[in-house]
Amino acid sequence: MGEALPPPDEALDRLKDHVGKPFTTRLLSDRRGSRAWKIEGPKGTVALKANNPDDDTARDKAAEMAQEDDHLVRLTDAGVLSSGYRVGAGAWEGGRWLAVRWIEGTPVWSAFAPARAPQDGLPAVRPWLLGVARTWAEWLGQMHAAGWVHADVQPTNTLVTDEGSAAVIDYALACGPGDGPRLPYRGALTHTTAPEIADAILSTAADIHIQAEPPADIWGLGASLFWCWTGQRPVAYEDDTAREEKLKAIATGVTLSLDNVRPWVFPEFEKVIRACLAPAPRDRPSSTDLATLLTS
Ligand SMILES: Nc1ncnc2c1ncn2[C@@H]1O[C@H](COP(=O)(O)OP(=O)(O)OP(=O)(O)O)[C@@H](O)[C@H]1O
Ligand SMILES: [Mg+2]
Repeated sequence: MGEALPPPDEALDRLKDHVGKPFTTRLLSDRRGSRAWKIEGPKGTVALKANNPDDDTARDKAAEMAQEDDHLVRLTDAGVLSSGYRVGAGAWEGGRWLAVRWIEGTPVWSAFAPARAPQDGLPAVRPWLLGVARTWAEWLGQMHAAGWVHADVQPTNTLVTDEGSAAVIDYALACGPGDGPRLPYRGALTHTTAPEIADAILSTAADIHIQAEPPADIWGLGASLFWCWTGQRPVAYEDDTAREEKLKAIATGVTLSLDNVRPWVFPEFEKVIRACLAPAPRDRPSSTDLATLLTS
């Protein structure tokens, strides 16, 4: 407590019984118009998010947080998320907050650090990498089977647990069956945006909703694995290139060749990444196919 950027009081009031007293709060991130804290007490630990009302460069994060809450409720009803994952949500003086059960894990980029080292693949790293990819595909498969698409599959939105399993977070931009009025989906992080989504963003007006389909998640998965394993993003462009130009490059479907950027040779893993990054959505494996491929 007493930190420079404390969580909203309105949220702590609602969460104090859930986590128990005394609890500690720690700021985890403060970026793109939202902040996240870890709230830890004797009875439980939660991740709390709230919009940053002072960041007017961000998209409308308060509305996005309300939308994520709606998605969490519907995904829980559909049996995709366990009933205890959504802890609470509400309004605060500066906008909206949302709390979910804490998942102990490491974001994929950090978790993959040993795999990026050019060491010809320590034996233990190989099954571990395949296991992360498999459990990630299985998670997405649960969503896809229920008619949902995550639509923001990227390295910071997946945590790797100590057991080597992937856990997907951040459902704000998901595209569900029978979505009511919603914030128009216009892609998420550029580097993990599928070619067909890039093309749709470029060819439609900014207020038009693009309904993401499961193959877009599969491309995002392949792009995330490519990026975190090789250290390079899958499509060639400079950091300071305008987003529109990056999207044009992505829309061509051309990616860097793994042969030139892989840290070491790993045919089984490379096969999965190449399949996910197929330019045409219909040529990509389904999440179920992928999980099966990675199990055998
Ligand atoms: N269930 C969770 N368990 C553990 N940590 C979490 C959980 N949910 C979120 N976090 C942490 O909070 C951060 C922000 O969460 P999230 O990605 O859902 O928010 P966001 O507003 O979409 O932020 P961004 O736009 O940066 O992705 C995550 O990167 C992660 O570190
Ligand atoms: Mg996120």
